[in-house]
Amino acid sequence: MKNLVLVLCLDLLGGAALAQGQGDARQRGQEVFEANCAQCHRSNGEGLPDIFPALNNNPFVLGDPKPVIAAVLNGLKGNLGAMPGWKDRLDDEQTAAVVTYIRQAWSNRAAAVTAAMAAATRTK
Ligand code: HEC
Repeated sequence: MKNLVLVLCLDLLGGAALAQGQGDARQRGQEVFEANCAQCHRSNGEGLPDIFPALNNNPFVLGDPKPVIAAVLNGLKGNLGAMPGWKDRLDDEQTAAVVTYIRQAWSNRAAAVTAAMAAATRTK
């Protein structure tokens, strides 16, 4: 419960610092991120140590895009606990937008992901 309150506070702080969108696609990705992901991974992409992994400077996020798309669609269960899957809540456009966003926000610089790539991973 204490963690939840902390996360909610951090989320409010992060929301206030919401950067101006740069271009439509990036803006859309950022909106999906703020609505679905920032409560755990935080607006600054740093997560919370030992609770929610940082997405900024994360080699998994910056690597091969397919496992990143699969993790977002199907969820993950690992050392830190579990993340729910988003496949029933995000369509291919939204999935591509948010994965592109986490690969290009903060100090991350990796190639964009297309809706076709999200669709291909979804049907596997
Ligand atoms: C309820 C909290 C929560 C939300 C909301 C959430 N995640 Fe996660 N996420 C986690 C946890 C916990 C893990 C680590 C799971 C593990 O491997 O133990 C994780 C892992 C990840 C990873 C893999 C990181 C790595 O190094 O393995 C990615 C990528 C990711 N999340 C992206 C997202 C995206 C994109 C969204 C929004 C669509 C999102 N997450 C929403 C909790 C959350």
